[in-house]
Amino acid sequence: MQLIDSGTVLVTGCAGFIGSHTTERLLESGRRVVGVDDFSTGAIVNLAGCLKHPNFIIEECDLSIEGSADRVIAKHRPDVVVHLAGLVDVNAAEEDPLRNQRLNVRMTAVIAQSAAQHGVRRIVFSSSAAVYGDSTEAMTSELSDTRPIGNYGKGKLECERMLKKIAADSQIEVVSVRYFNVFGRRQRPQSPYAGVLSLFLEQFQTGRPATVFGDGFQTRDFVAVEDVAVANTLAVKSTGLKCLTANICTGRSHSLLDVLAILRRVFPYAPQYEFYPARGKDIRHSCGDPEVAAKALGFRSSITLEQGLLSMVQNGDP
Ligand code: UD1
Repeated sequence: MQLIDSGTVLVTGCAGFIGSHTTERLLESGRRVVGVDDFSTGAIVNLAGCLKHPNFIIEECDLSIEGSADRVIAKHRPDVVVHLAGLVDVNAAEEDPLRNQRLNVRMTAVIAQSAAQHGVRRIVFSSSAAVYGDSTEAMTSELSDTRPIGNYGKGKLECERMLKKIAADSQIEVVSVRYFNVFGRRQRPQSPYAGVLSLFLEQFQTGRPATVFGDGFQTRDFVAVEDVAVANTLAVKSTGLKCLTANICTGRSHSLLDVLAILRRVFPYAPQYEFYPARGKDIRHSCGDPEVAAKALGFRSSITLEQGLLSMVQNGDP
């Protein structure tokens, strides 16, 4: 597979969980990066490594303000835009649909249109496995039905469709990456959108019983954030993609009881788990088919769940 190795990458949401790891990886790979963040949920401490890098520029900017995306893109003329900024709190997207529409759908439209006008070669868009909803297939592939349950997933699907149209009507290339359950350092357990792994880990580390919603047999495809950063970098660099949608996943699923068993080996004296009723609207199983990302981007996850969890225990945050 051919890779393009030069040109500026503009990363929106660079100070967030996925954004900061992606920015680090792009810098390591030799790209110049302009990071944009309004620091509403992202944190400057996440960028500690990047701020020292000579190829990194930070722009503090709220991209939902009219004209701001156009100003930043016109100023830096990036080769690629990696769009990760948005409303990541799935519950907030449910409670306030207009906010979801403004921060996820409209902001993506404005950025993509501005990118296309300013001759950006490609936009990499952060979509989500939430577009599939509660799939009954053993493995969801990009050809599986999309039946998102909530506003967050519906908004992501709307963005994917809109980006396809922009790609068809202009020169810009579009890569929509559907992240499965991303875990790793810098996902703060205190945040309203913390995934179950950061919550469990914090409970084990502080000697509190892990809170299990439902029977613990539900499964997820947990993908390490460092692998996601590699996938995003390949989505920037790979050539010959006019319009691609790809799952970013491992192709393996683990139950919550599997996760708890791994953590118990590390924390043998942790208290017993506490079981609570299942969350409303929870999906039962989720596992992604990784083959499109493997073929089109050359991406395969390399970090197992156990390795990822152990690295979180050993390295702490950030
Ligand atoms: C993610 C979203 C969720 C959204 C869904 C849509 C996050 C953190 N969660 O859920 O809001 O509706 O995608 O696709 O963005 N669990 C526990 N104990 C806990 C926390 C969670 O047992 O303390 C369980 C949950 O009930 C769930 C599983 O762990 O069954 C995974 O939860 P989570 O990490 O929130 O991910 P998703 O369920 O995929």
